[in-house]
Amino acid sequence: MSSLFSPLALGGFQLRNRIALPPLTRCRSEQPGNIPGDMMVEYYRQRASAGFMITEGTQIEPRGQGYAWTPGIHSEAQIAGWKKVVDAVHQEGGTIFCQLWHVGRVSHNALQPNMQPPVAPSAVTATGVRVFIQTGPGTGMLTAPSEPRELTIREVKEIVELYRIAAENAKKAGFDGVELHSANGYLINQFISEHTNFRTDEYGGSLDNRLRFLREVTEAVSSVFGSHRVGVRFAPLFSSTDEERVYLGLVESDPHATYIRAAEVLNELEVGYLSIAEADWDNSPDMPESFRAALRETFHSPIMYSGRYTQQKAELILEKGWGDLFGFGRTFIANPDLPARINEGYPLNSADQSTLYGGTEKGYTDYPVYSS
Ligand SMILES: Cc1cc2nc3c(=O)[nH]c(=O)nc-3n(C[C@H](O)[C@H](O)[C@H](O)COP(=O)(O)O)c2cc1C
Repeated sequence: MSSLFSPLALGGFQLRNRIALPPLTRCRSEQPGNIPGDMMVEYYRQRASAGFMITEGTQIEPRGQGYAWTPGIHSEAQIAGWKKVVDAVHQEGGTIFCQLWHVGRVSHNALQPNMQPPVAPSAVTATGVRVFIQTGPGTGMLTAPSEPRELTIREVKEIVELYRIAAENAKKAGFDGVELHSANGYLINQFISEHTNFRTDEYGGSLDNRLRFLREVTEAVSSVFGSHRVGVRFAPLFSSTDEERVYLGLVESDPHATYIRAAEVLNELEVGYLSIAEADWDNSPDMPESFRAALRETFHSPIMYSGRYTQQKAELILEKGWGDLFGFGRTFIANPDLPARINEGYPLNSADQSTLYGGTEKGYTDYPVYSS
């Protein structure tokens, strides 16, 4: 049997395997209101044999949205919709955390309440990334993010509180915990990055100041779930060629020092797991082994890795002792019964790129389970 089927303790849960559904934005919430509906219930239920599941990025407040049709967790209807998803997953014996998302500057006036500019640590427009706005019912287009407005210090503290409220809402929906989306150039990442945070108050300047927002948000959501039921996702990039810099708009001058210090902070706060999103595009550079080893030394709870993982790569990282849990993104989209397929050595479907974001059941809930 594959080592990926050895159990893992995480946040007080006993996970039945190490094959995780990582957060995957699919833009299929019901409109109006960005509400999880029956189609989403079915999608998550189908994948509940994962050892661990994290929902797609879920905006904590209306300003936290950067793409049309992503679900939120700030209205009663959204909480009720998520409750159906969580109940379905629990009926199948699964464990599911909600990924709490605030896009900050990666948004557009058209997605913001009253067509206001998006909010950010500093008024620096995101480049090299596109947002998705609705142009009519069920149709939309990719476009450049709008110029953001700098948050006042009071507003920063209000957003920390909005994270806490979102965690309360996740608890009401029955989620087992929450994951903070601190990766991919979104709000928490914007506070951490020296390229997007030019604040001169306690949230900017030194690395510890740039990590302050992450620390406060982590403490806020931990006050709801307990820190062991909180995970944090980072995407440390280790290459600074122009193309990759453009991809996320964010590459630290010293990613190792930045993210090892962040891991130290989260270890002190006793968060339940760290999730590392590795570069996942074609010919992307490998994560340095020195970083994996340092992360393992610094952070004492489970570490999850995602980014073009295969069964073999996951088994290798597990054997090396660097990681505990592995996200299979596009593979899980196309193979709802992925753990069974890995266990039995069945062949894998590949994902249809054209139906990843938005649309109907096609390319969402119609991928078949294996039958011989
Ligand atoms: C369609 C799609 C949507 C994604 N949405 C999110 C998201 O909402 N939050 C997040 O942290 N990562 C997101 N990611 C990144 C994935 O979680 C994962 O790290 C990435 O797909 C690499 O894994 P893979 O190569 O196995 O697909 C998304 C990736 C894809 C392909």
